[in-house]
Amino acid sequence: VLVVGQGGREHALAWGLAGNPTVDRIYAAPGNAGMAEVATCVPIAVGDLPGLVDFAKREAIDLTVVGPEAPLVAGLADELQVRGLRVFGPTRAGARIEGSKVWARELCERHGIPSPRARAFTEFDDAARYLEDLEPPFVVKADGLAAGKGVTVAPDRATARRALEDALVNRVFGDAGSRVLVEEFVEGTEVSALALTDGRDVLPLALAQDHKRLGDGDTGPNTGGMGAYSPVPLVSEDLGHRIVEEVLIRAVRALEDEGIRYRGVVYAGLMLSPDGPRLLEFNCRFGDPETQALLPRLASDLGELLLACVEGNLGAYRIHWSPKACVSVVLASRGYPGEYETGHEIGGLEEARKVQDVAVFHAGTAWRDDRVVTAGGRVLAVSALGRDLAEARARAYAACEVVSFEGMRYRKDIATNLSGVRRG
Ligand code: GLY
Repeated sequence: VLVVGQGGREHALAWGLAGNPTVDRIYAAPGNAGMAEVATCVPIAVGDLPGLVDFAKREAIDLTVVGPEAPLVAGLADELQVRGLRVFGPTRAGARIEGSKVWARELCERHGIPSPRARAFTEFDDAARYLEDLEPPFVVKADGLAAGKGVTVAPDRATARRALEDALVNRVFGDAGSRVLVEEFVEGTEVSALALTDGRDVLPLALAQDHKRLGDGDTGPNTGGMGAYSPVPLVSEDLGHRIVEEVLIRAVRALEDEGIRYRGVVYAGLMLSPDGPRLLEFNCRFGDPETQALLPRLASDLGELLLACVEGNLGAYRIHWSPKACVSVVLASRGYPGEYETGHEIGGLEEARKVQDVAVFHAGTAWRDDRVVTAGGRVLAVSALGRDLAEARARAYAACEVVSFEGMRYRKDIATNLSGVRRG
């Protein structure tokens, strides 16, 4: 198996695959210091599509599992399939659910997937005029991939106009921001609902919740995610069914209707509003750090499930979860999510792993002279299982306390406010 990517999500995927009898050898491209413990890391960048395809062909890779969205949106799955190789992850056409927010929203409208009211614009003046029809706060989204920075929740018109100007006039996101979506703000609690699919059958994963803001109490700037937990006690069984029926299954049916055979993960970022679930965004890949909170709970063979998506026989599988809860805490570098420091030695990794039921997933790490050093904004995700979220949280934080590196910071309140995480 070849795992494409180098973050905590990809480490969790490689770790999950390594524990399965169906998988005998794992490569990671490019991987990180933690992935090197379970995989052979090869120095091919996630954006080097020809390099990845040539490697998969040369090594007769049975299954390529693509972690991040950018190579999927760029067509990595298409290129692998042309060469007769199996790949977990949608083709370019399917990856548009994440690659174009406008297209995804139109898909929702065409197929009755509940989502906030929104309109697309290419001209600043038109978009600014539309703001006059809405009440604050406003949500402004760049259409394309913007490295997680393309969404602004604006408390007032002036902030929304600045976001529109940045995208449409100043082109701070390049082509990704040449169209924007202006969306009504929906109050509620966010939840991440992921499902595996072979394009027909849909196998929902357990729900997870992500903490996107940097600071405790959901304060400070947005990040890629500072921690996650699963299950989500706030979501009742009934609501869980609605999420599966109204969003996940409907999304796969919608794609099928549009002639797209989608094989991979559909990730729905949802707002649980008083009127029911509302789709804020689709992603075409596993969540980060949700994956680090989900895979420790997975009791089924991950390799078998991912392969079933690719081979089109997912209907023959069920998915089994540990009844335990999982909490994952992200340890980040000083400066993140802005410019951050790197190159600091990380201590305590071995000790952290000795804490009961703990797995330490590497995100931004590298080897330097036989030492593991920081090499990214999000450095590690410390995940722990427990009988309930309180026990999992206590174990995760006990492990965090023994890890150290210069400038390390993390949230102290992951999985504490179980009644909700406000939209960030
Ligand atoms: N945790 C948010 C994401 O993966 O997009």
